[in-house]
Amino acid sequence: MKTTLPLFLTIATLLSSVGFAQDHEEKETELYASMERMDDAYKDLRRAMRGASDENKASYLELADVMLKEATDSKKLVPEKVKKLPEAEQEKMLEEYNRQMDGLISAVEAIRNALEKGDYGTANTMLRELRGIKSEGHDTFKED
Ligand code: HEM
Repeated sequence: MKTTLPLFLTIATLLSSVGFAQDHEEKETELYASMERMDDAYKDLRRAMRGASDENKASYLELADVMLKEATDSKKLVPEKVKKLPEAEQEKMLEEYNRQMDGLISAVEAIRNALEKGDYGTANTMLRELRGIKSEGHDTFKED
């Protein structure tokens, strides 16, 4: 009898942590994680543009490259909202998703070009304009 309680507690703990891992996994999709990495680089780059100088250009290009990589990876993934649609509607929505993601990728490429040229004013304006692309994407494809 003495040994059953610790054993029971161990099993209960194990089972609840498995349950937690599953809940967690459901929310943090691959797309979600990629978006978060893109957002971190986006925020860092916007902050860096406040006192931008050629001295730090390499680090700006690195942040733009992180954004490009995550946008390109995100394009290959499927939003949860689309997965839950009837199959007949999925193809059309995925086409729209690809179209919007291509828009995001081109915009980040243009930002990278401006950074490369040392045109930080233009880069800054274009970074602000990404907000429109982001909200259109989120309005259409993020679950409520
Ligand atoms: C600069 C551009 C973007 C940034 C910084 C960004 C950032 C984020 C962040 C931080 C999340 C996590 C949830 C949250 O905090 O809201 C997220 C989720 C999401 N984003 Fe974006 N996003 C961008 C553009 C887009 C675009 C263009 C699309 C669609 C075409 C999109 C589709 C989604 C979807 C579908 C989710 C939910 C994840 C899922 O369904 O698994 N995002 N995004």
